[in-house]
Amino acid sequence: DKVAILPGAPSDVWRYTAERIVGPEDTLTPVGESYTGPLIRLRRGQRLRVRIDNDLPEDTTVHWHGLHVPPDVDGQPRLPIAPATSMAVAFDVVDRAGLYWYHPHPHGPDGGRVGFQSYAGLAGPLIINDDAERALELPDGERELVLILQDRTFSNGNELQYIDDGGMGAMMTRMQGFRGERVLVNGHPDARREVSTQPYRLRLLNGSNSRIYKLAWSDGRAVTVIGTDGGLLAKPERRRSVTLAPAQRIDLWVDFGDTEPGESVQLVSEEYQLGMMGERMGDMMDRGMMGDRMGGMMDRGMMGDRMGEMMDRGMMRDMMGSERLSLVTFAVVARANDAETLPERLAQDLPASPVQADTPVRRFELGMRMMQGFTINGRQMEGATVADDEIVRLAQTEIWEFVNNTMMPHPMHVHGLQFLVQERISAGGKTDLHDGIIDAGLHDTVLVFPEERVRIALTFKDFEGFYMYHCHTMEHEDAGMMRYFKVV
Ligand code: C2O
Ligand code: CU
Ligand code: CU
Repeated sequence: DKVAILPGAPSDVWRYTAERIVGPEDTLTPVGESYTGPLIRLRRGQRLRVRIDNDLPEDTTVHWHGLHVPPDVDGQPRLPIAPATSMAVAFDVVDRAGLYWYHPHPHGPDGGRVGFQSYAGLAGPLIINDDAERALELPDGERELVLILQDRTFSNGNELQYIDDGGMGAMMTRMQGFRGERVLVNGHPDARREVSTQPYRLRLLNGSNSRIYKLAWSDGRAVTVIGTDGGLLAKPERRRSVTLAPAQRIDLWVDFGDTEPGESVQLVSEEYQLGMMGERMGDMMDRGMMGDRMGGMMDRGMMGDRMGEMMDRGMMRDMMGSERLSLVTFAVVARANDAETLPERLAQDLPASPVQADTPVRRFELGMRMMQGFTINGRQMEGATVADDEIVRLAQTEIWEFVNNTMMPHPMHVHGLQFLVQERISAGGKTDLHDGIIDAGLHDTVLVFPEERVRIALTFKDFEGFYMYHCHTMEHEDAGMMRYFKVV
Protein backbone atom coordinates (compact mmCIF):
# COMPACT_ATOMS: atom_id res chain seq x y z
CA ASP A 1 0.00 0.00 0.00
CA LYS A 2 0.99 3.57 -0.55
CA VAL A 3 1.16 5.99 2.32
CA ALA A 4 1.45 9.72 2.17
CA ILE A 5 4.78 10.56 3.69
CA LEU A 6 5.40 14.04 2.41
CA PRO A 7 5.77 16.70 5.06
CA GLY A 8 2.47 18.48 5.32
CA ALA A 9 0.41 15.59 4.09
CA PRO A 10 -1.81 13.78 6.55
CA SER A 11 -0.22 10.44 7.23
CA ASP A 12 -1.33 6.93 7.86
CA VAL A 13 -0.36 5.50 11.16
CA TRP A 14 2.77 3.36 11.16
CA ARG A 15 2.86 0.59 13.70
CA TYR A 16 5.18 -1.92 15.23
CA THR A 17 3.47 -5.25 15.03
CA ALA A 18 4.81 -8.24 16.91
CA GLU A 19 4.20 -11.42 15.00
CA ARG A 20 5.80 -14.10 17.01
CA ILE A 21 6.59 -14.26 20.66
CA VAL A 22 9.29 -16.55 21.87
CA GLY A 23 9.84 -16.76 25.57
CA PRO A 24 7.66 -16.07 28.56
CA GLU A 25 4.08 -15.28 27.62
CA ASP A 26 4.20 -11.81 29.02
CA THR A 27 7.23 -10.61 27.06
CA LEU A 28 5.00 -8.59 24.77
CA THR A 29 1.78 -6.88 25.76
CA PRO A 30 -0.17 -4.28 23.83
CA VAL A 31 -0.19 -0.87 25.47
CA GLY A 32 -3.73 -0.21 24.27
CA GLU A 33 -5.69 -0.29 21.06
CA SER A 34 -3.75 2.42 19.35
CA TYR A 35 -0.58 2.91 17.38
CA THR A 36 1.92 2.57 20.22
CA GLY A 37 4.34 -0.32 19.99
CA PRO A 38 3.86 -3.29 22.33
CA LEU A 39 5.31 -3.18 25.82
CA ILE A 40 8.39 -5.39 25.85
CA ARG A 41 9.09 -6.83 29.31
CA LEU A 42 12.54 -8.23 29.94
CA ARG A 43 14.45 -9.59 32.88
CA ARG A 44 17.97 -8.43 33.59
CA GLY A 45 20.34 -11.21 32.58
CA GLN A 46 18.20 -12.42 29.68
CA ARG A 47 19.30 -12.43 26.08
CA LEU A 48 16.94 -10.72 23.66
CA ARG A 49 16.69 -11.85 20.07
CA VAL A 50 14.59 -9.88 17.61
CA ARG A 51 14.05 -10.04 13.90
CA ILE A 52 13.02 -6.70 12.50
CA ASP A 53 11.11 -6.75 9.22
CA ASN A 54 10.81 -3.43 7.50
CA ASP A 55 7.43 -3.25 5.77
CA LEU A 56 7.61 0.52 5.41
CA PRO A 57 8.22 2.32 2.12
CA GLU A 58 11.49 3.81 3.39
CA ASP A 59 14.58 2.99 5.45
CA THR A 60 14.23 2.63 9.17
CA THR A 61 16.12 1.32 12.20
CA VAL A 62 15.13 0.26 15.70
CA HIS A 63 17.07 1.98 18.46
CA TRP A 64 16.93 0.63 22.04
CA HIS A 65 16.93 3.94 23.85
CA GLY A 66 18.82 3.88 27.13
CA LEU A 67 20.14 0.35 26.85
CA HIS A 68 23.79 -0.64 27.09
CA VAL A 69 24.03 -2.63 23.86
CA PRO A 70 26.84 -3.18 21.33
CA PRO A 71 27.09 -0.48 18.63
CA ASP A 72 25.98 -2.72 15.78
CA VAL A 73 22.59 -3.48 17.34
CA ASP A 74 22.02 0.07 18.60
CA GLY A 75 19.84 1.00 15.62
CA GLN A 76 22.15 3.73 14.40
CA PRO A 77 21.49 5.40 11.05
CA ARG A 78 24.72 3.99 9.59
CA LEU A 79 22.99 0.58 9.58
CA PRO A 80 19.60 1.22 7.99
CA ILE A 81 17.07 -1.50 7.30
CA ALA A 82 15.89 -1.06 3.72
CA PRO A 83 12.24 -1.56 2.73
CA ALA A 84 11.29 -5.23 2.37
CA THR A 85 14.41 -6.40 4.16
CA SER A 86 15.04 -7.75 7.65
CA MET A 87 17.68 -7.44 10.32
CA ALA A 88 18.37 -9.79 13.20
CA VAL A 89 19.58 -8.27 16.43
CA ALA A 90 20.51 -9.89 19.72
CA PHE A 91 21.90 -8.55 22.95
CA ASP A 92 22.25 -9.33 26.62
CA VAL A 93 19.98 -7.36 28.92
CA VAL A 94 22.46 -5.88 31.39
CA ASP A 95 20.73 -2.67 32.48
CA ARG A 96 19.07 -1.98 35.80
CA ALA A 97 15.37 -2.43 36.21
CA GLY A 98 13.63 0.52 34.64
CA LEU A 99 11.47 1.87 31.85
CA TYR A 100 13.33 2.23 28.56
CA TRP A 101 11.96 2.50 25.03
CA TYR A 102 12.53 1.81 21.38
CA HIS A 103 12.07 4.05 18.36
CA PRO A 104 13.41 4.53 14.82
CA HIS A 105 16.64 6.38 14.07
CA PRO A 106 17.05 6.75 10.29
CA HIS A 107 19.06 9.65 8.92
CA GLY A 108 19.93 9.92 5.25
CA PRO A 109 21.77 12.50 3.16
CA ASP A 110 18.67 14.72 3.21
CA GLY A 111 18.31 14.64 6.96
CA GLY A 112 16.67 12.55 9.62
CA ARG A 113 13.34 10.77 9.68
CA VAL A 114 13.21 10.18 13.43
CA GLY A 115 10.63 12.92 13.93
CA PHE A 116 8.33 11.79 11.17
CA GLN A 117 8.53 8.06 11.81
CA SER A 118 8.09 8.37 15.56
CA TYR A 119 5.23 10.79 15.04
CA ALA A 120 3.55 8.40 12.61
CA GLY A 121 3.50 5.81 15.39
CA LEU A 122 6.82 4.05 15.70
CA ALA A 123 7.75 4.04 19.38
CA GLY A 124 7.12 1.67 22.22
CA PRO A 125 8.04 1.05 25.85
CA LEU A 126 10.44 -1.54 27.21
CA ILE A 127 10.58 -2.54 30.86
CA ILE A 128 13.43 -4.37 32.53
CA ASN A 129 12.79 -6.12 35.85
CA ASP A 130 15.35 -7.40 38.29
CA ASP A 131 15.48 -9.04 41.70
CA ALA A 132 16.58 -5.91 43.55
CA GLU A 133 13.50 -4.08 42.35
CA ARG A 134 11.16 -6.99 42.96
CA ALA A 135 12.30 -7.13 46.59
CA LEU A 136 10.86 -3.65 47.14
CA GLU A 137 7.35 -4.90 46.32
CA LEU A 138 6.25 -1.77 44.53
CA PRO A 139 2.69 -1.73 43.13
CA ASP A 140 2.39 -4.07 40.15
CA GLY A 141 -0.25 -5.78 38.04
CA GLU A 142 -3.22 -3.45 37.64
CA ARG A 143 -1.53 -0.90 39.86
CA GLU A 144 1.47 -0.43 37.60
CA LEU A 145 0.54 1.85 34.71
CA VAL A 146 2.77 2.59 31.74
CA LEU A 147 1.81 5.99 30.30
CA ILE A 148 3.29 7.28 27.05
CA LEU A 149 2.82 11.01 26.57
CA GLN A 150 2.72 12.27 22.99
CA ASP A 151 1.18 15.32 21.38
CA ARG A 152 -0.47 15.18 18.00
CA THR A 153 -2.34 17.39 15.58
CA PHE A 154 -5.26 16.02 13.60
CA SER A 155 -6.65 17.12 10.26
CA ASN A 156 -10.39 17.55 9.78
CA GLY A 157 -10.46 14.01 8.53
CA ASN A 158 -8.91 12.90 11.84
CA GLU A 159 -5.64 11.94 10.26
CA LEU A 160 -2.36 12.70 11.91
CA GLN A 161 -0.70 15.84 10.66
CA TYR A 162 2.96 16.49 11.10
CA ILE A 163 4.68 19.67 9.93
CA ASP A 164 1.59 21.24 8.53
CA ASP A 165 2.63 23.72 5.90
CA GLY A 166 5.57 24.86 3.87
CA GLY A 167 7.48 28.09 4.07
CA MET A 168 7.69 30.04 7.27
CA GLY A 169 5.42 27.83 9.35
CA ALA A 170 7.41 24.72 8.58
CA MET A 171 10.66 26.52 9.18
CA MET A 172 9.51 27.75 12.56
CA THR A 173 8.27 24.29 13.46
CA ARG A 174 11.61 22.75 12.62
CA MET A 175 13.31 25.35 14.74
CA GLN A 176 11.16 25.05 17.82
CA GLY A 177 10.31 21.39 17.37
CA PHE A 178 6.89 20.06 16.50
CA ARG A 179 4.15 20.53 19.06
CA GLY A 180 0.80 18.91 18.57
CA GLU A 181 -2.52 20.46 19.48
CA ARG A 182 -3.62 17.58 21.73
CA VAL A 183 -1.88 15.31 24.15
CA LEU A 184 -2.47 11.59 23.74
CA VAL A 185 -1.72 9.01 26.39
CA ASN A 186 -0.85 5.61 24.94
CA GLY A 187 -2.31 6.87 21.68
CA HIS A 188 -5.64 7.99 23.16
CA PRO A 189 -7.07 11.45 23.80
CA ASP A 190 -8.81 12.25 27.10
CA ALA A 191 -7.15 9.45 28.98
CA ARG A 192 -9.01 8.17 32.02
CA ARG A 193 -8.11 5.37 34.41
CA GLU A 194 -10.28 3.84 37.09
CA VAL A 195 -8.41 3.32 40.32
CA SER A 196 -9.08 2.26 43.89
CA THR A 197 -8.01 3.93 47.13
CA GLN A 198 -4.52 2.44 47.02
CA PRO A 199 -0.99 3.32 45.91
CA TYR A 200 -0.14 3.12 42.21
CA ARG A 201 3.08 3.14 40.26
CA LEU A 202 2.95 5.38 37.19
CA ARG A 203 5.72 4.87 34.67
CA LEU A 204 5.78 7.78 32.27
CA LEU A 205 7.60 8.10 28.98
CA ASN A 206 7.73 11.41 27.18
CA GLY A 207 7.56 10.09 23.62
CA SER A 208 6.72 13.50 22.18
CA ASN A 209 8.78 15.01 19.40
CA SER A 210 9.59 18.18 21.30
CA ARG A 211 7.09 18.98 24.02
CA ILE A 212 8.31 19.35 27.59
CA TYR A 213 5.82 18.54 30.36
CA LYS A 214 5.58 20.11 33.79
CA LEU A 215 3.84 17.31 35.66
CA ALA A 216 1.67 18.09 38.67
CA TRP A 217 -1.46 16.88 40.45
CA SER A 218 -4.69 18.82 40.08
CA ASP A 219 -5.31 18.75 43.86
CA GLY A 220 -1.87 20.16 44.61
CA ARG A 221 -0.47 17.05 46.25
CA ALA A 222 3.28 16.54 45.86
CA VAL A 223 4.58 14.56 42.91
CA THR A 224 6.54 11.64 44.36
CA VAL A 225 9.34 10.49 42.08
CA ILE A 226 10.84 7.05 42.68
CA GLY A 227 12.82 6.57 39.47
CA THR A 228 14.33 8.20 36.39
CA ASP A 229 15.62 7.02 32.98
CA GLY A 230 17.99 4.46 34.44
CA GLY A 231 15.77 2.99 37.15
CA LEU A 232 14.94 3.58 40.80
CA LEU A 233 16.34 6.41 42.88
CA ALA A 234 18.08 5.83 46.22
CA LYS A 235 15.19 7.61 47.93
CA PRO A 236 11.95 9.23 46.79
CA GLU A 237 12.01 12.89 45.72
CA ARG A 238 8.93 15.01 46.30
CA ARG A 239 8.22 18.09 44.21
CA ARG A 240 5.31 20.35 43.52
CA SER A 241 5.92 19.68 39.83
CA VAL A 242 8.28 17.53 37.81
CA THR A 243 9.82 18.42 34.44
CA LEU A 244 9.81 15.71 31.79
CA ALA A 245 11.70 16.45 28.56
CA PRO A 246 11.42 14.45 25.32
CA ALA A 247 12.79 10.89 25.64
CA GLN A 248 12.93 11.06 29.43
CA ARG A 249 11.11 8.65 31.72
CA ILE A 250 9.90 9.20 35.22
CA ASP A 251 8.61 6.68 37.74
CA LEU A 252 5.94 8.07 40.06
CA TRP A 253 4.28 6.74 43.17
CA VAL A 254 0.81 8.02 44.00
CA ASP A 255 -1.53 6.96 46.79
CA PHE A 256 -5.24 7.52 46.11
CA GLY A 257 -5.96 6.42 49.69
CA ASP A 258 -7.18 9.87 50.69
CA THR A 259 -9.46 10.30 47.72
CA GLU A 260 -13.10 9.38 48.19
CA PRO A 261 -14.67 6.96 45.73
CA GLY A 262 -16.59 9.07 43.21
CA GLU A 263 -13.92 11.75 43.15
CA SER A 264 -11.13 12.09 40.66
CA VAL A 265 -7.66 13.52 40.49
CA GLN A 266 -5.91 14.67 37.34
CA LEU A 267 -2.33 14.42 36.32
CA VAL A 268 -1.72 17.69 34.51
CA SER A 269 1.06 19.53 32.77
CA GLU A 270 1.16 23.03 34.23
CA GLU A 271 1.55 26.23 32.30
CA TYR A 272 5.16 27.28 31.91
CA GLN A 273 7.49 29.71 30.20
CA LEU A 274 10.69 28.52 28.60
CA GLY A 275 12.69 31.32 30.16
CA MET A 276 15.10 33.23 28.03
CA MET A 277 13.34 32.34 24.82
CA GLY A 278 10.02 33.46 26.26
CA GLU A 279 11.33 36.67 27.71
CA ARG A 280 13.23 37.73 24.62
CA MET A 281 10.43 36.85 22.25
CA GLY A 282 7.83 38.45 24.46
CA ASP A 283 9.96 41.54 24.67
CA MET A 284 10.47 41.69 20.94
CA MET A 285 6.78 41.24 20.31
CA ASP A 286 5.90 44.01 22.74
CA ARG A 287 8.26 46.36 21.02
CA GLY A 288 7.00 45.34 17.60
CA MET A 289 10.42 44.04 16.68
CA MET A 290 9.36 40.58 15.62
CA GLY A 291 8.07 41.71 12.26
CA ASP A 292 11.26 43.63 11.56
CA ARG A 293 13.58 40.90 12.64
CA MET A 294 11.87 38.20 10.71
CA GLY A 295 11.08 40.51 7.82
CA GLY A 296 14.77 40.93 7.23
CA MET A 297 15.19 37.20 6.92
CA MET A 298 12.21 36.38 4.81
CA ASP A 299 9.83 37.99 2.41
CA ARG A 300 8.21 40.77 4.36
CA GLY A 301 4.66 40.34 3.13
CA MET A 302 4.51 36.63 3.72
CA MET A 303 6.09 37.01 7.10
CA GLY A 304 3.50 39.51 8.20
CA ASP A 305 0.65 37.22 7.25
CA ARG A 306 2.24 34.20 8.80
CA MET A 307 3.06 35.89 12.03
CA GLY A 308 -0.47 37.19 12.37
CA GLU A 309 -1.83 33.76 11.69
CA MET A 310 0.52 32.08 14.09
CA MET A 311 -0.29 34.53 16.81
CA ASP A 312 -4.00 33.99 16.28
CA ARG A 313 -3.58 30.29 16.60
CA GLY A 314 -1.58 30.66 19.78
CA MET A 315 1.49 29.21 18.13
CA MET A 316 3.78 32.01 19.16
CA ARG A 317 2.67 31.64 22.72
CA ASP A 318 3.25 27.92 22.44
CA MET A 319 6.77 28.53 21.20
CA MET A 320 7.60 30.40 24.36
CA GLY A 321 6.10 27.88 26.70
CA SER A 322 2.99 25.86 27.19
CA GLU A 323 -0.49 26.19 28.55
CA ARG A 324 -1.93 23.94 31.21
CA LEU A 325 -2.88 20.56 29.80
CA SER A 326 -4.82 17.75 31.36
CA LEU A 327 -3.02 14.44 30.83
CA VAL A 328 -4.80 11.65 32.70
CA THR A 329 -7.90 11.61 34.89
CA PHE A 330 -7.75 9.09 37.70
CA ALA A 331 -11.31 8.30 38.73
CA VAL A 332 -11.44 6.64 42.12
CA VAL A 333 -14.14 4.00 41.83
CA ALA A 334 -13.52 1.54 44.63
CA ARG A 335 -12.35 1.37 48.18
CA ALA A 336 -9.44 -0.91 49.06
CA ASN A 337 -8.36 -1.77 52.53
CA ASP A 338 -4.72 -2.67 52.44
CA ALA A 339 -2.66 0.46 52.93
CA GLU A 340 0.93 0.21 51.78
CA THR A 341 3.52 2.82 52.42
CA LEU A 342 6.41 3.79 50.23
CA PRO A 343 9.79 2.75 51.62
CA GLU A 344 12.03 5.77 52.23
CA ARG A 345 14.99 3.73 51.03
CA LEU A 346 14.67 2.52 47.48
CA ALA A 347 17.54 1.36 45.28
CA GLN A 348 20.78 0.35 46.92
CA ASP A 349 22.60 -0.43 43.69
CA LEU A 350 23.09 3.09 42.35
CA PRO A 351 26.72 3.72 41.44
CA ALA A 352 28.68 6.27 43.44
CA SER A 353 30.07 9.13 41.42
CA PRO A 354 33.04 7.83 39.41
CA VAL A 355 34.49 11.34 39.18
CA GLN A 356 37.96 12.01 40.54
CA ALA A 357 40.16 15.07 40.65
CA ASP A 358 41.81 14.16 37.36
CA THR A 359 38.69 13.12 35.45
CA PRO A 360 38.92 14.79 32.02
CA VAL A 361 36.26 17.30 30.96
CA ARG A 362 35.01 17.36 27.40
CA ARG A 363 33.01 20.40 26.38
CA PHE A 364 30.15 20.54 23.91
CA GLU A 365 28.85 23.94 22.89
CA LEU A 366 25.30 23.94 21.64
CA GLY A 367 24.86 26.63 19.03
CA MET A 368 22.67 27.74 16.21
CA ARG A 369 23.33 28.33 12.55
CA MET A 370 20.98 30.84 10.98
CA MET A 371 18.27 29.10 8.95
CA GLN A 372 20.08 25.76 9.16
CA GLY A 373 19.34 24.57 12.62
CA PHE A 374 21.40 23.76 15.65
CA THR A 375 24.99 22.65 16.04
CA ILE A 376 27.22 20.86 18.54
CA ASN A 377 30.68 22.39 18.72
CA GLY A 378 29.84 24.12 15.45
CA ARG A 379 29.19 20.84 13.67
CA GLN A 380 26.20 18.94 12.41
CA MET A 381 25.50 15.31 11.58
CA GLU A 382 27.84 14.04 8.86
CA GLY A 383 27.40 10.27 8.94
CA ALA A 384 29.67 7.83 10.70
CA THR A 385 32.72 10.01 10.99
CA VAL A 386 34.12 11.58 14.12
CA ALA A 387 36.34 14.56 14.80
CA ASP A 388 39.41 14.28 17.05
CA ASP A 389 37.43 15.51 20.03
CA GLU A 390 34.78 12.82 19.55
CA ILE A 391 36.99 9.85 20.36
CA VAL A 392 36.79 8.42 23.87
CA ARG A 393 38.64 5.60 25.61
CA LEU A 394 37.12 2.30 26.60
CA ALA A 395 36.68 1.97 30.38
CA GLN A 396 37.47 5.65 30.90
CA THR A 397 35.29 7.98 32.95
CA GLU A 398 34.79 11.49 31.59
CA ILE A 399 32.81 14.57 32.38
CA TRP A 400 30.88 15.94 29.46
CA GLU A 401 29.87 19.55 29.75
CA PHE A 402 26.98 20.76 27.61
CA VAL A 403 26.97 24.54 27.23
CA ASN A 404 23.75 25.93 25.80
CA ASN A 405 24.37 29.12 23.82
CA THR A 406 20.95 29.09 22.15
CA MET A 407 17.57 30.51 23.11
CA MET A 408 15.97 27.09 23.44
CA PRO A 409 16.27 24.21 25.87
CA HIS A 410 17.84 21.03 24.43
CA PRO A 411 17.33 17.54 25.91
CA MET A 412 20.78 16.06 25.32
CA HIS A 413 21.00 12.29 24.95
CA VAL A 414 23.97 9.91 24.85
CA HIS A 415 23.60 6.40 23.44
CA GLY A 416 24.66 3.16 25.03
CA LEU A 417 24.90 4.14 28.67
CA GLN A 418 23.37 5.79 31.70
CA PHE A 419 25.10 8.78 33.27
CA LEU A 420 25.04 10.81 36.46
CA VAL A 421 24.27 14.52 36.42
CA GLN A 422 27.22 16.09 38.17
CA GLU A 423 26.48 19.78 38.12
CA ARG A 424 24.05 22.29 36.67
CA ILE A 425 25.17 25.90 36.42
CA SER A 426 22.53 28.40 35.35
CA ALA A 427 23.90 31.73 34.31
CA GLY A 428 20.72 33.21 32.88
CA GLY A 429 18.32 32.82 35.76
CA LYS A 430 15.88 30.01 36.34
CA THR A 431 12.87 29.14 34.23
CA ASP A 432 9.49 27.85 35.38
CA LEU A 433 10.72 24.36 34.71
CA HIS A 434 13.83 24.39 36.86
CA ASP A 435 12.15 23.51 40.15
CA GLY A 436 10.87 20.30 38.65
CA ILE A 437 14.20 19.04 37.38
CA ILE A 438 15.25 15.71 38.90
CA ASP A 439 19.02 15.39 38.58
CA ALA A 440 19.37 12.52 41.08
CA GLY A 441 19.69 8.97 39.81
CA LEU A 442 20.73 7.66 36.43
CA HIS A 443 19.84 9.34 33.15
CA ASP A 444 20.38 8.98 29.47
CA THR A 445 18.82 12.32 28.55
CA VAL A 446 19.40 15.61 30.36
CA LEU A 447 17.60 18.89 29.72
CA VAL A 448 19.98 21.82 29.23
CA PHE A 449 18.31 25.23 29.45
CA PRO A 450 19.40 28.40 27.63
CA GLU A 451 22.49 29.95 29.20
CA GLU A 452 23.08 26.85 31.22
CA ARG A 453 26.03 24.49 31.62
CA VAL A 454 25.31 20.92 32.65
CA ARG A 455 28.02 18.45 33.53
CA ILE A 456 27.43 14.72 33.33
CA ALA A 457 29.72 11.87 34.38
CA LEU A 458 29.86 8.87 32.09
CA THR A 459 31.98 5.76 31.65
CA PHE A 460 32.38 3.93 28.32
CA LYS A 461 32.24 0.26 29.24
CA ASP A 462 32.45 -3.05 27.39
CA PHE A 463 31.96 -2.09 23.74
CA GLU A 464 34.22 -0.35 21.25
CA GLY A 465 32.87 1.42 18.21
CA PHE A 466 30.44 4.12 17.19
CA TYR A 467 27.71 5.58 19.36
CA MET A 468 25.74 8.78 19.08
CA TYR A 469 24.99 11.87 21.08
CA HIS A 470 22.34 14.38 20.14
CA CYS A 471 19.50 16.61 21.07
CA HIS A 472 16.32 14.54 21.50
CA THR A 473 14.04 17.27 20.21
CA MET A 474 13.40 15.15 17.17
CA GLU A 475 13.24 18.02 14.69
CA HIS A 476 16.61 19.23 16.00
CA GLU A 477 18.32 15.88 15.63
CA ASP A 478 16.75 15.39 12.20
CA ALA A 479 18.11 18.79 11.16
CA GLY A 480 21.59 17.71 12.22
CA MET A 481 21.98 18.42 15.95
CA MET A 482 23.48 14.98 16.26
CA ARG A 483 26.95 13.45 16.02
CA TYR A 484 28.72 10.14 16.37
CA PHE A 485 31.37 9.54 18.96
CA LYS A 486 33.75 6.59 18.92
CA VAL A 487 34.91 4.37 21.76
CA VAL A 488 38.43 3.00 21.12
CU1 C2O B 1 16.17 8.02 21.65
CU2 C2O B 1 19.53 8.54 19.49
O1 C2O B 1 17.79 8.30 20.56
CU1 CU C 1 19.21 6.60 22.43
CU1 CU D 1 17.58 20.75 20.60
